[in-house]
Amino acid sequence: MSAENLENDLGPVSAVIVLAAGGGSRMKSSKSKLLHEISGKTMLHYSVSAGAALDPAHLVVVVGKYRNEVIEELGQLSASVTTALQEEQLGTGHAVLCGLAELGDLTGEVVVTYGDVPLLSGDTLRQLVAVHRANRNCATVLTAHVADPTGYGRIVRDGERVVGIIEHRDATEEERGITEINSGIYVFDVETLRTGLAELSTDNAQGEQYLTDVVQSAHERGDRVGALITDDIWQTEGVNDRIQLARISAEMNRRLLDTWMLEGVTIVDPGSTFIDVDVDLARDVVLMPGTILQGATTIGEGAIIGPDTSLMNVEVGAGAEVVRTHGSFAIIGEGAHVGPFSYLRPGTQLGRDGKIGAFVETKNAVIGDRSKVPHLAYCGDAILDEDVNIGAGTIFANYDGVHKSPTHVGKGAFVGSNSVLVAPVDIAPGAFVAAGSAVTEDVPAGGLAIARGRQHTAEGWVVKRRPGSKSAEAALGHDGTIHPAIAESRSQQKD
Ligand code: UD1
Ligand code: CA
Repeated sequence: MSAENLENDLGPVSAVIVLAAGGGSRMKSSKSKLLHEISGKTMLHYSVSAGAALDPAHLVVVVGKYRNEVIEELGQLSASVTTALQEEQLGTGHAVLCGLAELGDLTGEVVVTYGDVPLLSGDTLRQLVAVHRANRNCATVLTAHVADPTGYGRIVRDGERVVGIIEHRDATEEERGITEINSGIYVFDVETLRTGLAELSTDNAQGEQYLTDVVQSAHERGDRVGALITDDIWQTEGVNDRIQLARISAEMNRRLLDTWMLEGVTIVDPGSTFIDVDVDLARDVVLMPGTILQGATTIGEGAIIGPDTSLMNVEVGAGAEVVRTHGSFAIIGEGAHVGPFSYLRPGTQLGRDGKIGAFVETKNAVIGDRSKVPHLAYCGDAILDEDVNIGAGTIFANYDGVHKSPTHVGKGAFVGSNSVLVAPVDIAPGAFVAAGSAVTEDVPAGGLAIARGRQHTAEGWVVKRRPGSKSAEAALGHDGTIHPAIAESRSQQKD
């Protein structure tokens, strides 16, 4: 039977053991390697998800260095994962022994994976189990042919049969010429595994208990050992240092972008676009260069995002446009416009066809349908109903140095430019605020608040006090008429 046929009704395996006790010293990090993130999720997340795809009766992560933070992160990921402690890193074979010790009596199959191979998919593991079963193997190893096998264990074959795995450091020149490498990912029948582990020695170049020796001893006992060669060598690549972290991150991102493009999203420059795994995009979304979508961000149909925009946990409605914007924990309504150069802080909710414009910062601001905050404003702790217009340079003064207070601007209200709304203050529906006002008292519905000093003009001051200046010269040459554009604007406003 072929792997594909079996894959469909694959019964669960008994256990998945994820090896993750290594220190990750080459990361030169103060935290566990497994907590480093790729496309918004930890490496631990990926290894646990791939293992969980097999629906195992037990999923155990072998932890060592940084165990507490790994255990804490596991608690956030899944309740059904257990951990086993490997105090000292005595080798991959010893690590599996520690994992098995946690599981007690067990029959059936055990899958072994690593915590630091983030591109390994659940599908590949399912295929590996399918091959294991179809060929009635006692051990099946995932392998790949790579151009540069340096450092990896090599698969030693006798024709189709796998007869052993030899570590790079223990290999002869001839064996180092083998390009089929051990991914370190296996399925074992539990008896084969237990028997092999009981026989392990440390008689090798690294003085470690090699899990790979289980493969050779199984073959020598006459147990059937097989391999699944994957074409997708990325799925076997581990992360040991930050260079590999960047390489794997780039590949993960490339795969995510490809998936979205096949779903009908236009990505103008995949090289400068980054999308976390939990992001959701609708059809005909356009992502312009320099777009970074993080967390659980969702973008509605036909919306245009970017250039140069980063959104973290933001919900963007269909048909909206978000240009050169930095936003987090915000909601942008359908058909709304944001940017350029807007800063949407948590709690921002912009209604349908609303606008947050250039150099506007919003925080905890609920802005109604068709309402606009178009220019140079700070809008915090604000409730704006529908059809509100906030003039350029308006500041919602929400903080008195001790308390934060809210401001309400009712439906259809109009706030003139360069106003300060001193919270808590209520501007009722249809009210007007004159430009340059410092509003400290509520404005009733339909009222006009003017809260500024009256203009005082000293006639002839420049000619008297700045004689001979360019300004005085211009004043003296002027015939007293008003600029025609202003005159026309006034006459139109009278009509
Ligand atoms: C191992 C394999 C090698 C394979 C390579 C693939 C052995 C002896 N060699 O080599 O054939 O090509 O992986 O990447 O198995 N770990 C523990 N406890 C330990 C040692 C390791 O939990 O005592 C974990 C590490 O955290 C890591 C994984 O096992 O996730 C692999 O360990 P590593 O030291 O990287 O193995 P390699 O020497 O690279
Ligand atoms: Ca490794």
